[in-house]
Amino acid sequence: AGTPDPNIVPVPEWTRMLGAGVNNHPYGVPSKFEKDVVRREVEWLTASRESSVSFTPLYALDGVITPNGLCFVRHHGGEAEIEPDKYRFMIHGLVDKPLVFTLDDIKRMPGRMNRAYFLECAANSGMEWRGAQLNGCQFTHGMIHNVFYTGVPLRAFLDAAGVKPSGKWVLAEGADASVMTRSIPLHKALDDCLVAFAMNGEALRPEQGYPVRLVVPGWEGNMWVKWLRRIEVGDQPWAQREETSKYTDLLADGRSRRYTFIMDAKSVVTSPSPQAPLRHKGPNVLSGIAWSGRGTIKRVDVSLDGGRNWTTARIEGPAMPMAMTRFYLDFDWDGRELMVQSRAMDETGYVQPTKAELRKVRGENSIYHNNGIQTWLVRGNGETENVEVG
Ligand code: MTE
Ligand code: CO
Repeated sequence: AGTPDPNIVPVPEWTRMLGAGVNNHPYGVPSKFEKDVVRREVEWLTASRESSVSFTPLYALDGVITPNGLCFVRHHGGEAEIEPDKYRFMIHGLVDKPLVFTLDDIKRMPGRMNRAYFLECAANSGMEWRGAQLNGCQFTHGMIHNVFYTGVPLRAFLDAAGVKPSGKWVLAEGADASVMTRSIPLHKALDDCLVAFAMNGEALRPEQGYPVRLVVPGWEGNMWVKWLRRIEVGDQPWAQREETSKYTDLLADGRSRRYTFIMDAKSVVTSPSPQAPLRHKGPNVLSGIAWSGRGTIKRVDVSLDGGRNWTTARIEGPAMPMAMTRFYLDFDWDGRELMVQSRAMDETGYVQPTKAELRKVRGENSIYHNNGIQTWLVRGNGETENVEVG
């Protein structure tokens, strides 16, 4: 800033005239100066946009809630456009009484709940198995969002239909062209799954499954069926495409794991990061997010020297089970090169592994469930890159 600073001494332009009226935007939009904060795609990643993914701009967000318009989108057959009046949800299979619900029926069900949960695609960080690849946490970690859902426990619908004693699994099916179908153990369906119709206080966005999606807390995003059409109760898993050919984890010894549902503890520093370089020497606030599908985040440690020394970060704001948790480290930067890492610990005592530790078990040909520690190299000029330490 100059002396005198022209941005504080004279009365600014925007103070000398009236601003826009109250209903300038009947549905509010972000400041035009924030136009770079958008979901982005990785062009070469998928062959078509109907079966593709866009990534949450994590580097530009703070707090713990992901704004609805910035939640990453992943779908396999395009976005279904469902007329709410024609929407139906069916419970059938091994039940005493098959039932069909309208959207209004769902909104009239007793027991409605509000819960914040992260949704992470099992393929998040999947491009990083063979080494540092994508330059920005939007792309390395952006297949995650954290939303406050309003919905009805799935248990309420299952209880209403009456699950037969032989019922052990449920199949959730989507009404989109991909007919996304996943098997979920009955105990999870009865425990904390939600049939959700609102996100962050408003109706679900079309791309997030309007009018109804399944919420499967802490478990891989693929199971959170959007445009939810039916739940079938069965006595064993269905071995659908998305649980045999996809969403299995190849191990170093050539075998594959199936039905690896839970998303293990993970974290990433969102600032500094390649899209959010360091701009100032002196005081800085390092910021990041941590989450665990097994419960609450208890501690996050940060290293500025590639994992040699660790400092416990400040968890700030709510640390709720299976929800995104924000951490900060207030630090002084003297212009030295940094190797920034974060390491999450959850309430079970589980500690986020290094990439080397993960590869010992998983090899390099996996796609899913990569929760290894991320390293950002901050250069002397503040520019930041995705790297790995040996
Ligand atoms: N549900 C349906 N019906 N169709 C889909 O293609 N994609 C799944 C899951 N539910 C999918 C779906 C995958 S792989 C993920 S990661 C999440 O939805 C993504 O949810 P989001 O689009 O809200 O980010
Ligand atoms: Co996914």
